[in-house]
Amino acid sequence: MAGIVVNKVADRINCKSLSGNFFPEDHIKSLMFKLVKQDGNFVYKGAWGDIHPTFGVNVSDIAGRRLQDIFSEEVVRQKLPFYEKCWEGEEVKYSGMLEQFSFLVFLVPVKDNGCVTEISGTVMDITNLKKNEDKLFNSEKLALVGQLAAGIAHEIRNPLTSLMGFTKILLELNKDQQLTGQYLGIMQSELERIRNIVNEYMQLAKPQIVAGEWESVCLELLIRDVLRLEETQALMKSIEFDVHIEAGMPPIRGKANKLKQVFINLIQNAIESMERGTIKITLSRYQEEMVKVSIADKGCGIPEEKLSNLFTPFYTTKANGTGLGLSVCKKIIDDHQGRIEIRSMENGGTIASVMLPIQHDNEQS
Ligand SMILES: Nc1ncnc2c1ncn2[C@@H]1O[C@H](COP(=O)(O)OP(=O)(O)O)[C@@H](O)[C@H]1O
Ligand SMILES: [Mg+2]
Repeated sequence: MAGIVVNKVADRINCKSLSGNFFPEDHIKSLMFKLVKQDGNFVYKGAWGDIHPTFGVNVSDIAGRRLQDIFSEEVVRQKLPFYEKCWEGEEVKYSGMLEQFSFLVFLVPVKDNGCVTEISGTVMDITNLKKNEDKLFNSEKLALVGQLAAGIAHEIRNPLTSLMGFTKILLELNKDQQLTGQYLGIMQSELERIRNIVNEYMQLAKPQIVAGEWESVCLELLIRDVLRLEETQALMKSIEFDVHIEAGMPPIRGKANKLKQVFINLIQNAIESMERGTIKITLSRYQEEMVKVSIADKGCGIPEEKLSNLFTPFYTTKANGTGLGLSVCKKIIDDHQGRIEIRSMENGGTIASVMLPIQHDNEQS
């Protein structure tokens, strides 16, 4: 197995029952190995297959080496129960991880007269398989959320419409009464806010952007619109927006409402991450064919070990968070053939970047 030839890289291997990461996918597809138990130690008889040079050891170096000669104490502790179980006569399946690679291991006991004399192992690279599985799992969760959100939003919309209607009538009847008029005005604008949120949620339910809804989008205008929406919230926390827009930005092809939702989510995350200060918003060209929007805050940042969870639906570290913002953003940006990246440092702030392809002349709508 790959871990066998990894030597000290093995420190980073993390084995557990059926989940994990391993081999450079362009290099190893499977590897076989054999081992026996001698004087209470597991000793490798050999390994056959190809292994990435990163790991630095040739498979031919394995014969005669003990488990603990190759792996760190921690990794030996993780592997031992699987090996012991197999030595007792059971077939064992487990998976492990190393950085972004996933591997699956099968251990089969070889018996002579009912007695285990050898373990035969196979390691398979399942990196791609796992990536696809995670993607599928996330998109199913999102679809479910979309349906739920649409159901709830629909139920809210009807009473909301009548509340808005009656508020409007009351406002007209009371416009001469200073205080009542003022309160009703606030009620009206707050109800409008609820309606907008409900409408946003209902959009979540549409799983795909249909072809007819694509339009030419000026990101500068769209971002300025979003900033206007977020202004009050920012002001309440003494947060300012520092906006930098490169001159002559080309339009992109997309769905303005969906993109708005992306930037609202990203700016809201930035606002929620800090108590005061400046959020820097930059719109610029990126590589030949793309534009890039970055939202940089100086907030609490994200610890490194949490970065991989950000796009998982329902992942949140906030008491009142939904954990849906970033996964919805990712879905929308994927639909636009773009890319979204979050770079962050704990206590050092976060930069969320969205890259989108520019519109070509023949795509004008
Ligand atoms: N700008 C940011 N600064 C710090 N943490 C962030 C930022 N953006 C996202 N996060 C982290 O990612 C998590 C998921 O974000 P999101 O999907 O928008 O859900 P929610 O905001 O409802 O928690 C947040 O709970 C937070 O831990
Ligand atoms: Mg959020």
